[in-house]
Amino acid sequence: SVVILDFGSQYTRLIARRFRELGAYSVILPGNAPLERIAQESPLGIVLSGGPSSVYDEAAPRPAAGVLDLDVPVLGICYGMQFLAQQAGGDVKRAGRREYGKADLTRYGGQLFEGVQGEFVAWMSHSDSVTRLPEGYEVVAETDDTPVTAIENTATRRYGVQFHPEVVHTPKGTQLLLNFLKVCAAPLDWTAEHIVDELVTGVQQQVGDGKVLLGISGGVDSSTLALLLARAVGDRLTAVFIDHGLLRLGEREQVEAALTPLGVHLVTVDAREQFLGALSGVSDPEEKRKIIGREFIRAFEHEAREYGPFDFLAQGTLYPDVIESSGGEGAANIKSHHNVGGLPDDLAFKLVEPFRTLFKDEVRQIAALLGLPDHIRMRHPFPGPGLAIRILGDITPEKLDILKRVDDIFISGLREFGLYDSCSQALAVLTPIRSVGVMGDERTYSYTCALRAVSTDDFMTAEWARLPYDFLATMSSRIVNQVHEINRVVYDITGKPPATIEWE
Ligand code: XMP
Repeated sequence: SVVILDFGSQYTRLIARRFRELGAYSVILPGNAPLERIAQESPLGIVLSGGPSSVYDEAAPRPAAGVLDLDVPVLGICYGMQFLAQQAGGDVKRAGRREYGKADLTRYGGQLFEGVQGEFVAWMSHSDSVTRLPEGYEVVAETDDTPVTAIENTATRRYGVQFHPEVVHTPKGTQLLLNFLKVCAAPLDWTAEHIVDELVTGVQQQVGDGKVLLGISGGVDSSTLALLLARAVGDRLTAVFIDHGLLRLGEREQVEAALTPLGVHLVTVDAREQFLGALSGVSDPEEKRKIIGREFIRAFEHEAREYGPFDFLAQGTLYPDVIESSGGEGAANIKSHHNVGGLPDDLAFKLVEPFRTLFKDEVRQIAALLGLPDHIRMRHPFPGPGLAIRILGDITPEKLDILKRVDDIFISGLREFGLYDSCSQALAVLTPIRSVGVMGDERTYSYTCALRAVSTDDFMTAEWARLPYDFLATMSSRIVNQVHEINRVVYDITGKPPATIEWE
């Protein structure tokens, strides 16, 4: 494999991700990993990551002695390049000012840049620079601010770049990483199948003979995790799916049909009465969320006792949910994403989080391999409190029934017109507004529903989706024709901010 030594850069995982995309197998180890540990990986090449330290600091993290003597290609990125240069006898000094952001290379060449053409935009984030080149090295790229932007020593196969080729802001960076893999003669045959095997083995090692509990939400992460865990530990996994009555039309049946035939020991809990009872008469959005959270834990706890005891609680935490402080893998200060927070102490579990190093699209690839049907695999996110926060005001079985039907028409319509994948999330809201209309020859006095669709990368900000008028017209007439309790359909044309994606 290619070994990535992590010196605490926020981008280290991205290096591994790019290698995976290129089909190469890589392993991230702490920057100071012992030589024997690195040797266990039979390294074909070594990447020294970036990091927040300065190479001339007393406490600067360093690779273990002997690592740079290994007869394999080495790529240093940012801090890694500075370390490489200093180690080989060059100088590194604090630059006049911190260079942060995009920079154009004024010149580039050499092995790393082979096959690159045209202008090259590089993402920079450094305050130190290589000021004197070590012997045997050559400068192969520069910018106006940084004369030594990339270096190489083709005899010893040592390469360094001051910028970050792994981030999207360096659009042609992937070619550099590919060129490095070629120098390493790393096989490019690492596939999603391999990743699944690796994850399965990892879970088996961690869990041993233990029993695992997993909460299923119906979304892609927890469903994929259920399939992976079932493959790893069989029926020592219990997957609990709580039907709180706030799900979409047919959702429970879809989840059951997707997971049970693939060997997941799925326990569906019908908690509809319990949730709807607790929510009865409540119209404050935060109060609704609180009640749902509380009832969730209560129901989950009940199942944990019923089917337990369990040693492990599995969570579908993804890499973007994991916020690591500087200091690399070993010293990581992790903010866990507790999907099932607030469980009592006597239900103390150890966490299993096999997706901690993956990104959402990678989970989707794995899901395809594990046989998760596309309608779940490519699904938009759906909030834990479900339709409760899409019915403004108090929740009644009647309103739930109305909203389920409206939502189903809208979402099926998006799929039918090939628009589903063009937006990041789409939803219907039932407002408490009733207004006058006319249908046939009769006056109506019925509810207004709102349709909302957004595009976003991270759900922190969003734009309202510019759905075609014809499509919206079709949805409007389908809804008022098929759902008699609705006589007015509006489309939400507000971004986030100032609005949020959900209405509550
Ligand atoms: P907002 O409405 O805050 O939503 O713009 C951003 C994203 O988060 C989802 N969301 C929730 N998910 N529990 C959840 O699990 C919640 O209480 C919740 N509120 C919002 C929302 O669907 C969107 O994807």
